[in-house]
Amino acid sequence: MSDAPEITPEAVAAATDAALAAIAAAADSAALKSARAAHVGDGSPLARLNARLRDVAPERKAEFGKLIGQARGRVTQALAAREAEIEAAELTARLEAEAIDITALPTRARVGARHPLTLLQEEISDVFVGMGWEVAEGPELEHEWFNFDALNFDVDHPARQMQDTFFVDPVERHLVMRTHTSPVQVRSMLDRELPVYVVCPGRVYRTDEFDATHLPVFSQVEGLVIDRGITMAHLKGTLDHFARVLFGPEAKTRLRTNYFPFTEPSAELDLWHPTFKGGARWIEWGGCGMVNPNVLRAAGIDPEEYSGFAFGMGIERTLMFRSDVKDMRDMAEGDVRFSEQFGMVV
Ligand code: DAH
Repeated sequence: MSDAPEITPEAVAAATDAALAAIAAAADSAALKSARAAHVGDGSPLARLNARLRDVAPERKAEFGKLIGQARGRVTQALAAREAEIEAAELTARLEAEAIDITALPTRARVGARHPLTLLQEEISDVFVGMGWEVAEGPELEHEWFNFDALNFDVDHPARQMQDTFFVDPVERHLVMRTHTSPVQVRSMLDRELPVYVVCPGRVYRTDEFDATHLPVFSQVEGLVIDRGITMAHLKGTLDHFARVLFGPEAKTRLRTNYFPFTEPSAELDLWHPTFKGGARWIEWGGCGMVNPNVLRAAGIDPEEYSGFAFGMGIERTLMFRSDVKDMRDMAEGDVRFSEQFGMVV
């Protein structure tokens, strides 16, 4: 004798309604799983009503069998439909949670650019290092002796006033912000064994205006060779090679007589190129000459045995006519958009 309720249409309808309500109320797959266990599995009201079929009188078996069969069919269908709904909803939720917005703007760090003066300075040094020269450096806060005296500037020589110098207090220490890279010549001769082949790029200071063609702080590059038997022909050949590497094979140099206390003879160095802005023309590029014997003596070198040449030029000026920069102030102001135009050379 079973303890299950008797099969009646009301009992079947009640079990069916309860099953359908539980299925409809299931919000996720876990809830649906328990609804399935409670209303479809063994021991569920419908299963227990089904088990009572065997107690039903034979003439009513078909009728009740159909009643329960239909009820179970509806429940199974509702279950399958709800399962599909829940699966779809759960998939949508997961896709939303894991979504990657491929249209979002990347938050990239700006790369920046190296300053064209740094690049040019390195490029110039490379030209000479490629010929076996060394790169020499000196201090920007320099002793007056290196900046002027050892370079053969008389105490009251007009050239010393020509260089509009920043003297640094206290005056009796004789310190200046170097007005040119030429003091590195003297330091190199004192520091090194002979022969000397050095290129000396660096920053220099003058009480100049800050305008399109002058900066109070700018850069120069100096070249110095001290060896036996050095002549002006070596100087000219070196400058021609330098000009061609930097400006292309058509570049030419020309020397015009001039005066510098530290060279004898001295020359103004001009540069010619067919594609300079304003047409093929000569541009004043720097100064040069044979190292004055007085300078050799100041550095303890015997001018009877050794001779040498030197040259120097402004790097900002070189960049101006090499890259057609119209205003030197752009090189001093540090706006990255200026540097970026010179490319991402590293
Ligand atoms: N020091 C000079 C200047 O600043 C440039 C210069 C001229 C350098 C002749 C040299 C040289 O080495 O030989 O104007």
